[in-house]
Amino acid sequence: MEFTVKSYRFNPEIDEKPYYKEYVLNDFPGMTVLNALMKVKAEIDGTLSFRRSCRSAICGSCAMKINGITKLACKTQVSAEIEKFGVIKVDPLGNMPIIRDLIVDQEAFFDKIKEIKPYLLGKTDHIDDDFKALKEGEKIKQPVYYKIEFQNLTGNNDTPNCILCECCYSECGGVVANSKYLGPAALAKLYRYSEDPRDNDKNGSRLVNGSKPAGMFDCVHCQACEEFCPKGISPVKVIVRMHEKAIKNSITFSKGAKHIIGIARSIQETGRLDEIKVAVDSVGISGILNDLPVAIGAGLKGKMPPLRLKLIKDMEDIRVAFKDLNLEEKHD
Ligand code: SF4
Ligand code: SF4
Ligand code: FES
Repeated sequence: MEFTVKSYRFNPEIDEKPYYKEYVLNDFPGMTVLNALMKVKAEIDGTLSFRRSCRSAICGSCAMKINGITKLACKTQVSAEIEKFGVIKVDPLGNMPIIRDLIVDQEAFFDKIKEIKPYLLGKTDHIDDDFKALKEGEKIKQPVYYKIEFQNLTGNNDTPNCILCECCYSECGGVVANSKYLGPAALAKLYRYSEDPRDNDKNGSRLVNGSKPAGMFDCVHCQACEEFCPKGISPVKVIVRMHEKAIKNSITFSKGAKHIIGIARSIQETGRLDEIKVAVDSVGISGILNDLPVAIGAGLKGKMPPLRLKLIKDMEDIRVAFKDLNLEEKHD
């Protein structure tokens, strides 16, 4: 079957602006989009640039937008795409600057991964000494082994399967809103290590750092990370679990944590959402004063929330549902 690959092209050294170039190919059984791009590069146009390595959906290099949907090119069948869209249109990932054609600049993404310390803390302090000893031809003095049951490592946590492909990051609404936001992959990694029984983060520093501005509480819950992850990981689910864990451990200095606590308190006290009280709990009186023009505008349009709320019936049930939540705040 003959089909067309329509690729985004942009070489900042020679092109004034991006354009699309079309290549006509013949498919073969089981042909993937990556096979098609490699065929273009090998036989038609050697200047087409894209990343790839394993061709087995394990290295994460070949992520790109295929017919508008972020996927791994090596895991995407040409036949399925042609059947649905009639063409293979490829674009670079979003939320990252484009270096050339389908290649994006990954620096900010990997800086954010580094920021969460993607390795076991504490018990591994001996590793530097071990490397030094090995380099100097000495024996490692005290080898340390960590025995761990497989189910304790994974549990209901599939974040160790992350291949750092950036599909989630490309679509993340939180990164669109704030380019400094850590993003789903870094936060999934943060969770992966904070849940690892071998990690020795005595002071809960992972959760404290992850709660800082542009951290876990800046997730806008758009669910894109769950939708686009080719490994079936749901970063947003583990982000919500980390919110809960941070609040239970009194790591509540962020606006996001205060907002969650404010909502919980309001429901606990009245069974209803007291928007004014939640706003005061989240940003304080000074924050409210900053937003005064918005509040006045809302009031003039008859959209001011009520100042007093009636309790709902069955308040006892509500209180029982919230009794496990530790609402004490700690200000760092
Ligand atoms: S749910 Fe949160 S982390 Fe996931 S893509 Fe949306 S904003 Fe990003
Ligand atoms: S969480 Fe999924 S989409 Fe995000 S980087 Fe890891 S494997 Fe890729
Ligand atoms: S080439 Fe490695 S994931 Fe596609």
